[in-house]
Amino acid sequence: MTEFARELTGLDGLGGLDGKRALVTGGSRGIGAAVVRQLVGAGVEVLTTARSGAAEVPEGARFVAADVRTAEGAEVIAAAAHKEFGGVDLVVHNAGGAQPYASAADIPAEEWKNALELNFLASVRLDALLTPGMRERRTGAIVHVSSAAVLTPVGQFLHYVAAKAALETYSRGLSLELAPFGVRVNTVTPGRTATPGGEATREQWARLAVGPGQTNADDTPPLGREGRPDDIADAVLFLLSGRADWLTGSNLVVDGGEFPRG
Ligand SMILES: NC(=O)c1ccc[n+]([C@@H]2O[C@H](COP(=O)([O-])OP(=O)(O)OC[C@H]3O[C@@H](n4cnc5c(N)ncnc54)[C@H](OP(=O)(O)O)[C@@H]3O)[C@@H](O)[C@H]2O)c1
Repeated sequence: MTEFARELTGLDGLGGLDGKRALVTGGSRGIGAAVVRQLVGAGVEVLTTARSGAAEVPEGARFVAADVRTAEGAEVIAAAAHKEFGGVDLVVHNAGGAQPYASAADIPAEEWKNALELNFLASVRLDALLTPGMRERRTGAIVHVSSAAVLTPVGQFLHYVAAKAALETYSRGLSLELAPFGVRVNTVTPGRTATPGGEATREQWARLAVGPGQTNADDTPPLGREGRPDDIADAVLFLLSGRADWLTGSNLVVDGGEFPRG
């Protein structure tokens, strides 16, 4: 950004992120760790959370151990955000995932509940605790991390895909509710990305010997490679930044062109 453009917009090269306070769930590895690293690099004060893995968290970020699937976990995280920073300006709901099964009928009832808690209700609970402060301050940006699997919902993964689909609809609805308060809410939808969670899922698919075309792990994306965590983090940071000031309720699909758009 030129000096002139900076003066004109009041933004630095990173879209005015410097000095903001962020919460990122699942920041100990994969996409979440890339988001944390990039935010710290942009001068953001970051608190991240996972059930374990404090030692893996990128340098410069603070950490609180919690399970986002529970109401108690959400309370612990919100209290830590309040204690560390007095509130947050930016929230990235990144923790997510689920183990695939051979078919939809094989997914145990307990795993349906788990998938909904982790990939959907965790965001609902944390947003309920964190958005009142944002509304009051009349500023804030939230990103929900979904999955391109929603665009091709395969049976072995329906608990996960259905939870992410609910998350997308919720995210859009929340964006309308919070827009009058200057709080923006967007979704980032990654395609296959090289992370520990992504690799574990694809290995499990291979073990289940699900037939070709029956999983969404068969082809190379049109752009010729799978995603890197930073590909997704770039999109997240853009949506959090002042450069996306007129963007809310959007869903940015970052998948190398792989999945069909509606
Ligand atoms: N990688 C892909 O190909 C891909 C594709 C589409 C969408 N996504 C989505 O992108 C997001 C990140 O995926 P990823 O591949 O980077 O995942 P990952 O490598 O498995 O990392 C997940 C992170 O979330 C934390 N986490 C998991 N369960 C948690 C819980 N119950 N409470 C608190 N933290 C929890 C993990 O730490 P602990 O295990 O220690 O708690 C870890 O820090 C997820 O929402 C996923 O659904 C990924």
